[in-house]
Amino acid sequence: MAKKKPIKDAAESGVTRRGFLGSVGAGAAAVAAGVSTRAEAIPEITDPEEMVQIALTVNGRLHRLLVEPRWTLLFVLRERLGITGTKAGCERGECGSCSVLIDDLPRYACLTLALEAEGTEITTIEGLLDGEELGDVQRAFAEHDAFQCGYCTPGQIVAAEGLLRANPAPTDHEIRHGMSGNLCRCGTYQHIVNAVTHAADGRRKGGGS
Ligand code: FES
Ligand code: FES
Repeated sequence: MAKKKPIKDAAESGVTRRGFLGSVGAGAAAVAAGVSTRAEAIPEITDPEEMVQIALTVNGRLHRLLVEPRWTLLFVLRERLGITGTKAGCERGECGSCSVLIDDLPRYACLTLALEAEGTEITTIEGLLDGEELGDVQRAFAEHDAFQCGYCTPGQIVAAEGLLRANPAPTDHEIRHGMSGNLCRCGTYQHIVNAVTHAADGRRKGGGS
């Protein structure tokens, strides 16, 4: 499996944004209830002098905040910035649920320190919306039933977006290889390939972002 590297080594069907995000969120919440979220369990620091001021650009918005050097980007996104579309799964670089784009490249936020991401352009699933509407990859996933519980879906869509930015016309093999760092325990892989293919076709026809 081609795992993504941490940053240093190297998203009109009648589906509404609220409905899509709501369905994904409900499944995610159910799964999250049974998932150990180690990043969220990181204790608060006690010595303010250990904090470092950084500036992170997330979905085009600049955030200035204090972080502890050991905090992951995943922890900072979810627990300090309240950007919770990015999901915590394995938290050790195996599942891809935490995928974000860093300068257009898919990365595991659980293996990236927040400090490392300073000065980059970070894009999460929220940043792939088209205004108040779903982005084209998000629509494609909904139209092709490319999720069941939905927990892996934000990471899958972010990975698909990264793939399409690098390769606008991927073959089925290239999609499977490019998405191989994102696991889906519900087994929706063929539907995901269908969705990514549809999104790619739409972009080439000028219908996507
Ligand atoms: S939570 Fe980051 S790879 Fe699984
Ligand atoms: S839709 Fe359930 S893990 Fe992928």
